[in-house]
Amino acid sequence: MRQEGDAVFTNLHLATMVGGYGEQRDGAVRVANGRIVWVGPRAGAPTAGARIVDGGGCWMTPGLIDCHTHIVHAGNRSDEFEARLNGASYEEVARAGGGIMSTVRATRAASEGELLRQSLPRVASLLAEGVTTIEIKSGYGLDLASEAKMLRAARRVGAMLPVDVATTFLGAHALPPEFAGRADDYIGAVCEQMLPALAAEGLVDAVDAFCERIGFSNAQTERVFEAAAKLGLPVKLHAEQLSDQRGAQLVARYRGLSADHLEHLGEEGVAAMAAAGTVAVLLPGAYYFLRDTTPPPVALLRAAGVALAVATDCNPGTSPLTSILLAMNMACTLWRLSPQEALAGCTVHAARALGRHADIGTIEVGKRADFALWDIARPADLSYAMGFNPCRGVVNAGVLRAPMVSWRD
Ligand code: NIG
Ligand code: FE
Repeated sequence: MRQEGDAVFTNLHLATMVGGYGEQRDGAVRVANGRIVWVGPRAGAPTAGARIVDGGGCWMTPGLIDCHTHIVHAGNRSDEFEARLNGASYEEVARAGGGIMSTVRATRAASEGELLRQSLPRVASLLAEGVTTIEIKSGYGLDLASEAKMLRAARRVGAMLPVDVATTFLGAHALPPEFAGRADDYIGAVCEQMLPALAAEGLVDAVDAFCERIGFSNAQTERVFEAAAKLGLPVKLHAEQLSDQRGAQLVARYRGLSADHLEHLGEEGVAAMAAAGTVAVLLPGAYYFLRDTTPPPVALLRAAGVALAVATDCNPGTSPLTSILLAMNMACTLWRLSPQEALAGCTVHAARALGRHADIGTIEVGKRADFALWDIARPADLSYAMGFNPCRGVVNAGVLRAPMVSWRD
């Protein structure tokens, strides 16, 4: 019997990404109840009882995954952008009370509705490029009520738009003015009040921190990880973005999902990540926008077998980027990832960075039927073009939406 949602997507080339990269030319995928139940050559597709969706010769990839964003925030910082172009550094701006604190002021002042109003267009920009899952961090509230507001807004993004949202609590992002000179006390509030309350409300899928000279120390970060571990929550870390704080070793010790940024990562950090299976999340938008000149040790990470993910880091200070395709292009152009690695970085490895690799990230039987359909000649075209969007349709849990060409059904 034909079940609701039974469909065969056919006349497609599949970049399955199984095992890092895999392809099936002239392929087909059968989905039922939002899951993939068959993948293979078009000629052998089991079509009986299913709705047929003709892909018109497009390429199909897993739905793209943006595994590191601060996309829910209020205001922007184009003034700081100008100041930095005139010679100020990111750290100088932050120490002068701007930087993250500037966005904290704007985000605290915004209602939840206003936060959503400003954030939804940014999310929509990602979705138009085939993104089906995004991670959204808090970290611009820095008190319980404002962090809760951010995370509730993040959850509402997932309820309002066709995207799955993974929320991350980033209370340890910067020191709020109420705690000036009392960073350890603030970490106490993060661990003992904010995190337990937010977790109890179901707002926290993972816990992050900013381990940096202008953020929190290695020891303070460890207290946050201990609190997360007590609640059974996975951890990840903004690590070695501006200096080597041995954050990668720390997050690996806690079997962290990912260490992110990593421009100043050393060999020991690479080895620790490899041993723990911690994913390296590369954020070329921040490197580009800060005019950084120290690239992350991509060759070392690759040689050690560390999975490389790529994300936008969408945020108003270091990466006002709402194009995952441009992030892929930058990872290739700036750091010589191969286009296949960049695509794996936004699919299979990004899924692992969210701890969701059993569910999403590849086109294989049992996974959720989240796909992007592309009018391209080869998968490398996704990383090649700059500012061009060849997405021709997106499938969320088996449901095709917003096709930009007519589909024969
Ligand atoms: O991922 N480095 C810390 N956090 C953000 C930037 C936050 C900001 O400047 O607003 C990042 O780069
Ligand atoms: Fe970030």
